[in-house]
Amino acid sequence: MALAPPYHILCFLISFLTLLCFSTAQTQRNISLGSSLTAVNNDNSSWESLSGDFAFGFLKIGKEGFLIAIWFNKIAEKTVVWSANGNNLVQQGSKVELTNLGLILRDPKGNQKWSSGISGTGVAYGDMLDTGNFVVANQNSSNLWESFDNPTDTLLPSQTLSLNMKLVARYSEANYSRGRFMFVLQLNGSLELFTRAFPRDDANAKSHWNSGTEGSGFQVMFNQSGSIYVAAKNGTVLNTLVSQSASTEKFYKRAILEYDGVFRQYVYPKSNSKGWNMAWSPSSTSIPSNICTISEEIGGGACGFNSYCSLGNDQRRYCSCPDGYTFIDPNDEMGGCKATFEAQSCDEGLGDADHFDFYSMDHTNWPFSDYEHFQSVSEDWCRKACLSDCFCALAIFNDGGGCWKKRNPFSNGVMDYSVGAKALIKIRKDNSTSKLGSRDSKKKDYWTLVLIESVLLSVSAFVNVLLLAAFVVLFHIRRKKSKVTTPNQFKPAMNLQSFTYAELEKATDGFKEQLGSGAYGTVFKGALTLDKKTLVAAKKLNNMMQEGEKEFEAEVVAIGRTNHKNLVQLIGFCNEGQHRILVYEFMSNGSLGNFLFGSSKPSWYQRMQIALGIARGLFYLHEECRMQIIHCDIKPQNILLDDSYTARISDFGLAKILKINQTRTMTGIRGTKGYVAAEWFRNMAVTVKVDVYSYGILLLELICCRRNFEHEIEDATQMILADWAYDCYACRKLDFLVEDDDEAMEDLKMVEKYVMVAIWCIQEDPSLRPSMKKVVQMLEGTVEVSVPPNPTSSISSL
Ligand SMILES: *[C@@H]1O[C@H](CO)[C@@H](O)[C@H](O)[C@H]1NC(C)=O
Ligand SMILES: *[C@@H]1O[C@H](CO)[C@@H](O)[C@H](O)[C@H]1NC(C)=O
Ligand SMILES: *[C@@H]1O[C@H](CO)[C@@H](O)[C@H](O)[C@H]1NC(C)=O
Ligand SMILES: *[C@@H]1O[C@H](CO)[C@@H](O)[C@H](O)[C@H]1NC(C)=O
Ligand SMILES: *[C@@H]1O[C@H](CO)[C@@H](O)[C@H](O)[C@H]1NC(C)=O
Ligand SMILES: *[C@@H]1O[C@H](CO)[C@@H](O)[C@H](O)[C@H]1NC(C)=O
Ligand SMILES: *[C@@H]1O[C@H](CO)[C@@H](O)[C@H](O)[C@H]1NC(C)=O
Ligand SMILES: *[C@@H]1O[C@H](CO)[C@@H](O)[C@H](O)[C@H]1NC(C)=O
Repeated sequence: MALAPPYHILCFLISFLTLLCFSTAQTQRNISLGSSLTAVNNDNSSWESLSGDFAFGFLKIGKEGFLIAIWFNKIAEKTVVWSANGNNLVQQGSKVELTNLGLILRDPKGNQKWSSGISGTGVAYGDMLDTGNFVVANQNSSNLWESFDNPTDTLLPSQTLSLNMKLVARYSEANYSRGRFMFVLQLNGSLELFTRAFPRDDANAKSHWNSGTEGSGFQVMFNQSGSIYVAAKNGTVLNTLVSQSASTEKFYKRAILEYDGVFRQYVYPKSNSKGWNMAWSPSSTSIPSNICTISEEIGGGACGFNSYCSLGNDQRRYCSCPDGYTFIDPNDEMGGCKATFEAQSCDEGLGDADHFDFYSMDHTNWPFSDYEHFQSVSEDWCRKACLSDCFCALAIFNDGGGCWKKRNPFSNGVMDYSVGAKALIKIRKDNSTSKLGSRDSKKKDYWTLVLIESVLLSVSAFVNVLLLAAFVVLFHIRRKKSKVTTPNQFKPAMNLQSFTYAELEKATDGFKEQLGSGAYGTVFKGALTLDKKTLVAAKKLNNMMQEGEKEFEAEVVAIGRTNHKNLVQLIGFCNEGQHRILVYEFMSNGSLGNFLFGSSKPSWYQRMQIALGIARGLFYLHEECRMQIIHCDIKPQNILLDDSYTARISDFGLAKILKINQTRTMTGIRGTKGYVAAEWFRNMAVTVKVDVYSYGILLLELICCRRNFEHEIEDATQMILADWAYDCYACRKLDFLVEDDDEAMEDLKMVEKYVMVAIWCIQEDPSLRPSMKKVVQMLEGTVEVSVPPNPTSSISSL
């Protein structure tokens, strides 16, 4: 397929420019007939593109062998975009050669393992283009073969998928052999998703998603600006799959049908090595939107037999085994689950039934493999019917009184809110091994099992040695696996989820459990996944200005990119009609306000840790994240505590989202009385120093475990903590501040240091206040704290 002329010109210009920039990168060009590469350990034998962005050659895949592939060459991950022999890795010493029959791969013995084939004759040269396309061309530079025309699982910008072409998912993240899903552009113009009749190449009959373009679809295009769409023959865009506009100069891009059956686009900032991020697009994040809900009579479904699929918080699908079952191969989550107990015996008749029991899983179904169906029965009846039947491995019961008996293996398991039935899983009472739980606990169970087994079997030293060996090997495989998968790990940064109002209504049980409320909205507790593992806090914003829907999303995305261990992570948002909701990770230990001023006060050590954590979080917001964020409302209620009592700043960025005029006007004041710096009220620009002021007040509160303003105190000099603290400091009577706190009394030097830092922070003159960076350094002890002046002494100069 020849590329359109304008593209060539563009390509030439880009190549020329990159040549100027990377003139030192000497690369092979124009691979001449007869050139070859040999697979050698510890060497990347490859042909690079002019810019060096892509390379074609041998990649070593673990210890298994070598893969002929094209990969992103300038990034550490060496992400593969095309491969030839995923099903058939070759050994060291194998050779790929450009012959007049195209590319030919031979093993060390000379046996042909793969060949590209060519259309036409007269091979003159090969070329690894900067687009990621490897071409074999004739004398006249017409392409006889292109990797772009023979895609594996990935599309790159400028690549098209023509009629009858397909993408086939690989087997797993790190196993490039052909896997279980494929995307085909049918001859009738419809792009469709199928499961494969694994391990055979053909597709199963049922399509699980289609582009709705039959009769008019002609090509799937991935254009330079990152949009992927189905186009008609005349070029009209029929269905946009992904629309996204990260600049091609700044980002690498790829779209891939992943091993889990989901088509996703990823971008990678060229300027840093932060890894691949799922491209964020308001319209669609993945196709299909929920792979778990696909189902067909043949095959295991989105996960393997006897397992069930659920969509995680990160929008990825997870395969899990029901309680009482474990993965057959712990390294292959799609390989299915097996029971950990002995099946019910049919010989003993009803006798064995006594050893079995059920547990139920809500919103869960295995839609096929039923062999009996009863209507208008009760759940109890359904349980008894399954219990007394040795064939019955589980029963599905729905509110309509339907009862389905299922036998092993059950397939297409799914746990999703859309499922209106519950599964009653039958397990042997005496050796149920684990609680119904998360993937993590399952992992632990697996290891516990291995350990128990090895202890039980320790009578036989030989067996033990074997197990130890297996353990070491498995451990090694696991480590290897986790290493390989890290580059594509879920990055919260660009992976903000867009929720519908209905989804959040469901997740919060109709906004039932209120966690708190303030001037800008009310926060509700919710759970995103069905196993209720992913708790969230959904903040419903009120007083939203009507306009600026786009701006809202832009701000939210910017906030979603922040990522620091002392910030509450934003997970997603809803922007539907007048509903604006921000979804945050849930903080189990509530707000610092409740902790600090509540009945069980934190220890001095804990308070110091919290103070340092908040300072680090603010330093990040002010100086380290991509866009500077002024919080404008630092106070104990806005600091939350996670499981380990680490301080996490919440509500940062709200000032921008709420479009509050951050310059002066009284009506626009977002801050809270007592924590607000004086410049809010004066004719001065608001800077990060307002946060430093609020932090100073907060720090005093942390030191003394009391509110800044307490009118119930009899001694009027102590009513305002900021004043009293300075008085105590000036009179060298710091022990007054921490009187009832033995731990702090023992540590008065540190108390003094913290008080001094706080006094610096609450200087009336913003320019005297230190930056948060300096605050962190002072608290950490890397910078000396000098003697602070009286906070109000500079007021006259303003
Ligand atoms: C590549 O080789 C072909 C045929 O030998 C030749 O026509 C072309 O000019 C060469 N191109 C480059 C960039 O060297
Ligand atoms: C192989 O690749 C690594 C990592 O990209 C690089 O550091 C090394 O220089 C390469 N070796 C050769 C022989 O090209
Ligand atoms: C190259 O182009 C010339 C003129 O267009 C043509 O005569 C010749 O057959 C072409 N050669 C190949 C190998 O296609
Ligand atoms: C990849 O998975 C296939 C199918 O399970 C298996 O046969 C093959 O050995 C695996 N390849 C590697 C390199 O692990
Ligand atoms: C397109 O054609 C294929 C057969 O080529 C057929 O199986 C499929 O159902 C058709 N798709 C639609 C949406 O009509
Ligand atoms: C292009 O093709 C599509 C589908 O075949 C058709 O609906 C549309 O009218 C055509 N547009 C033009 C400008 O011809
Ligand atoms: C890519 O496609 C999108 C959507 O059709 C369009 O808005 C954009 O202009 C296209 N970009 C290029 C470079 O063709
Ligand atoms: C479960 O019990 C059966 C016999 O009741 C036994 O054979 C089997 O090993 C037990 N499994 C586990 C995991 O304990």
